[in-house]
Amino acid sequence: MMFTLPETHQMLRQTCREFADKELIPVAAQLDREHRFPAAQVARMAEMGLMGIAIPEEEGGAGLDTLAYALAMEEISRGCASTGVIMSVNNSLYCDPLWKFGTPAQKKVFLEPFASGRQLGCFALSEPGNGSDAGAARTTAERHGDHWVLNGTKAWITNGYDANAALVFATTDRAKKHKGISAFVVPMPTDGLSLGKKEDKLGIRASSTCNLIFEDCRIPLESLLGQEGEGFKIAMSTLDGGRIGIAAQALGIAQAALEEAIAYAQQREAFGAPIANLQAIQFKIADMAWRLDSARLLTWRAAHLKDQKARFTTEAAMAKLAASEMATFVTHQAIQVLGGNGYVTEFPAERHYRDARITEIYEGTSEIQRLVIANGIFKEYA
Ligand code: CAA
Repeated sequence: MMFTLPETHQMLRQTCREFADKELIPVAAQLDREHRFPAAQVARMAEMGLMGIAIPEEEGGAGLDTLAYALAMEEISRGCASTGVIMSVNNSLYCDPLWKFGTPAQKKVFLEPFASGRQLGCFALSEPGNGSDAGAARTTAERHGDHWVLNGTKAWITNGYDANAALVFATTDRAKKHKGISAFVVPMPTDGLSLGKKEDKLGIRASSTCNLIFEDCRIPLESLLGQEGEGFKIAMSTLDGGRIGIAAQALGIAQAALEEAIAYAQQREAFGAPIANLQAIQFKIADMAWRLDSARLLTWRAAHLKDQKARFTTEAAMAKLAASEMATFVTHQAIQVLGGNGYVTEFPAERHYRDARITEIYEGTSEIQRLVIANGIFKEYA
């Protein structure tokens, strides 16, 4: 087993790290304060091939793999977690299913411009009345002549205000429960689709989150992605990949917090010496570092399995659970190392703490990850 990254991956990691140092870290606090979409930074990332990393070059992507995606996601999120989630939703929740399930005509319009980063996608699965119970979708899609007509509200849509298309899950037959759900690709803006208020969030405040409200929204029959009734499986398999992205986002947030805590401990003096000399601080740094590295290994394993086309549902859930709970722990400890300075906005520590929290909620809560893991384990031992 090799623990050294291939040279291409090391180079990508270094390039993303330098980009984050120069172009994300200096503006991250301001973007967060102003709830401002990082348009210039996302445009630069498109030039760097970061908006469709694992999509083949002929479809507009960078032609790399999931491991490359995880490495880039970590570095970008280390610089700015909001920019990280914008990138993650476009890569794994929008482009990946379009690539896997799209027809050539759909790919031309709805994949190439998005994988190249000229346009931005979003993923609309949750609803105001159901998040974890994704199979209970109430948004309907009815066939009328040569159109589908969508009605209902999708909730918590990351990139909602800034997206040029949405992958929308709606039921064509409620009696069939999850087997009645289908996936549709919807251009934005489009008649009959309006946006709810921009959510005022605890963290990742430079990314937009809102409801998508469908009122007799007519879209052509060719908007169906995959087969009718296949939507739930498309959503679940897409989220398997998305969870690797969110695990990597959590790694990046935690890495930023750890680096900040180390630097602070080395320069801050107490009792006549840097606090890094105190065992109380050393133990914290050690606990932060080993947890971060363990989650990173789980994330790389899940990415590797996806790249090998092996089953990775359980491993992606493990990576997401480990990395998100680790990020909550590490960012909490970083504030403890900084003391009062960790609690004020002059230092990034409080932002990392706020940004980490969502990684335990979106793309499946920690509780859902435990369910998915337990299911996988019981199947393995059946
Ligand atoms: N891949 C492919 N198919 C899968 C699958 C997977 N990972 N997981 C389940 N399925 C299939 C099953 O095989 C089953 O198929 P059959 O009907 O043919 O038997 C079918 O889907 C139903 O499976 P379950 O009975 O396990 O489904 P369930 O209703 O009990 O739900 C769940 C399982 C794990 C709770 C699932 O609903 C889930 O993951 N919920 C969380 C949803 C979620 O993560 N939402 C995040 C919102 S998106 C977001 O946050 C985006 C953002 O903007 C950042």
